[in-house]
Amino acid sequence: MSSPSAHETVAKTTQDTDSRLKWLQDHIQFVQAFAKNPLGIGAILPSSRALAAAITAHLQPGAGKVLELGSGTGAFTQYMLDRGFDPADLVLVEQDPALAARLRHRFPQSTLLQIPAQTLHLHYDTAQRDIVATVCGLPLRNMNHTIHAQMLEATFEAMRPDGALYLFTYGLTCPVSADTLNALGLTSRLTAFVAKNLPPACVFCISRAPDTAGGLGT
Ligand SMILES: C[S@@+](CC[C@H](N)C(=O)[O-])C[C@H]1O[C@@H](n2cnc3c(N)ncnc32)[C@H](O)[C@@H]1O
Repeated sequence: MSSPSAHETVAKTTQDTDSRLKWLQDHIQFVQAFAKNPLGIGAILPSSRALAAAITAHLQPGAGKVLELGSGTGAFTQYMLDRGFDPADLVLVEQDPALAARLRHRFPQSTLLQIPAQTLHLHYDTAQRDIVATVCGLPLRNMNHTIHAQMLEATFEAMRPDGALYLFTYGLTCPVSADTLNALGLTSRLTAFVAKNLPPACVFCISRAPDTAGGLGT
């Protein structure tokens, strides 16, 4: 195998420096957002690549639109793009104005909604039901049952009948209560434990429960 040319070496070094700079900018902006609103951000650092891999493991590029709730600095967004997802297939939801502005700049081809996730139905045509899956980065443990229910109702309204929501949490149990899930005809299951994240996290999948009456329509 031939050794890289000087041009290739310079290009690679520039690329490495660019991605280190982006990483640093992301972390600085995240810490600033956390300092302003610790409960609303709900994490001290952006998620790791290992958590991004686990939370998007069941999603396939090209399968359709993916909704991302609480995109932050775009840790999951960038991972999905690296995996070959079409940026035009991503619908990003982020309520923090500074984080939303950076997402808009970084991912100009994706749809960016700067809204509270629980108001999705007021800003997105959920009747299209064109979302195949949802990746949720919201700090659900800092939100109450009413917000959980509103967010899940709007999200499942926007998804295809077989659509599922993947969330992460720093606890060992699903942050959405069994009562809330039952009332909406939903069910949850643990799909991964990710040690390589600070702090370590669990990933849960929420989907429509089979044969439920009185829950969200399919
Ligand atoms: C724990 S951070 C996760 C960020 C990113 N997904 C990651 O994993 O690094 C939670 C993000 O959700 C956003 N957020 C919190 N509550 C929200 C809400 N009701 N609607 C939309 N975004 C919200 C915060 O501003 C923050 O960017």
